[in-house]
Amino acid sequence: MHFTLRRLAARCLLVAFAALPACPALASPETPAERDARMAWWREARFGMFVHWGLYSGLAGNWDGQPVATKGGMEWLQKIVRADSTAYSAAALPLFKPAPDFARAWARLAKEAGCRYLVFTTKHHEGFALHDSAVTTFDAGSVLNRDLVREIVEACRAEGLRVGFYHSVIDWHHDQYDFPRAKGLPHPLEKSPELAGVRDHSRYVDFLHAQVDELVSNYGAVDVLWWDFSSKDFQGDVAWRATELIAKVRAAQPGIVMNNRLYAASTVHGAADEHKEFDVSRGDFSTPEQRIPDNGLPGVDWETCMTLNTTWGYSEHDHAWKSPRTLIRHLVDIASKGGNFLLNIGPRADGSLTDETIASFRAMGDWLGTNGESIYGTTAGPFSRPLPWGRATVKGSSLYLHVFDWPADGRLLVPVENTTASAVLLAAPDLLIPVSRAKEGLWLSLPAAMPDPSATVIRLSLDGAAIEVR
Ligand code: GLC
Repeated sequence: MHFTLRRLAARCLLVAFAALPACPALASPETPAERDARMAWWREARFGMFVHWGLYSGLAGNWDGQPVATKGGMEWLQKIVRADSTAYSAAALPLFKPAPDFARAWARLAKEAGCRYLVFTTKHHEGFALHDSAVTTFDAGSVLNRDLVREIVEACRAEGLRVGFYHSVIDWHHDQYDFPRAKGLPHPLEKSPELAGVRDHSRYVDFLHAQVDELVSNYGAVDVLWWDFSSKDFQGDVAWRATELIAKVRAAQPGIVMNNRLYAASTVHGAADEHKEFDVSRGDFSTPEQRIPDNGLPGVDWETCMTLNTTWGYSEHDHAWKSPRTLIRHLVDIASKGGNFLLNIGPRADGSLTDETIASFRAMGDWLGTNGESIYGTTAGPFSRPLPWGRATVKGSSLYLHVFDWPADGRLLVPVENTTASAVLLAAPDLLIPVSRAKEGLWLSLPAAMPDPSATVIRLSLDGAAIEVR
């Protein structure tokens, strides 16, 4: 019997497949409490490392010896230069030479940076699988005689990190991926549909399911499945047999957390009332891309994914690095709105990282080393109006004030009704900050100089949950 079916049957203590719909774990949705328990680690984690790494990494933003662009996603290179898979792999495969211990360096940096999880590309749109796959020869097992997924998973576990798989449902390599039919989804040959020949998309979907089966069956516990992506015209059951795929993954990995990109979601690029369309049966969390929603996504689990420069995959031409201060403030901004931050690295083909990448993640780690309690396990700040000086997060009766703009007169207004027990800087917890009550809230008297120009954090211990002055 098929492996996942066997697991399903075992879970339900059933002998007959026909009786499966009676299995409560499958037929009835999980209760809100069960869902909260499953989501707990992810909600507390707040900060993860994203990794885009594949054949495009070796091309490094070049094609035929010429730079393709200095900005934008260079993991899209094959599509940008409109190369078919044969030309693309002929150019890219010889350049993809992972060093022996590359994954340990990623996992160590993630750990040092204070990331709690790492999500990496098991396969991007180009179609090259980083695992040792039995259903294709376009994989690391066949080409390099290595299982890079296993190497990365083991390195993450050694550092105590949760690990997740980004997996592209778009596939520019598979000969049955029916790109002329996949309206709204890109393909390198989309301008030449006559080159498609006769394709049977259901055979591609069989292949997609088979590879996902391998990934969720052969590497122990997988914490996240990060699908990418769908369009309004081509999504869900029609495009990927999504209901079946989700059920299969959940049966093999009952604790897994999945994003909702097997379906098109306006949250990716933003829309009014974007949180209202969220549907938990389509995935656990929403994925604003390169953006932080103005007011978070109330009632929805969400994770902003973002690049350090402007590309996900490595390019030697993109020098538009965000500063560590910007990245720290993004993490704070996201946490203050109740979201997670998945910050991307684009390693080179050998797995090595740019100096800017290492420096930025270390700076995040330094800041979190002092201020981590104001991020991990917190929830969104209680304020309905923006704070003129920064952001706030909450944990129990602690209100964390993240000051971006230090008041020139040293007086900081916190618009809460509560009385306070104490206020301290996380960077100097022994030094009490004087607090006085007024009608408009609590006034804090701060030291003259801002101790940390990225974001200085004050822990305000209140008499109970913070109540905003209205
Ligand atoms: C987009 C891009 C892709 C990247 C992803 C990350 O969907 O296609 O290159 O992997 O966003 O969010």
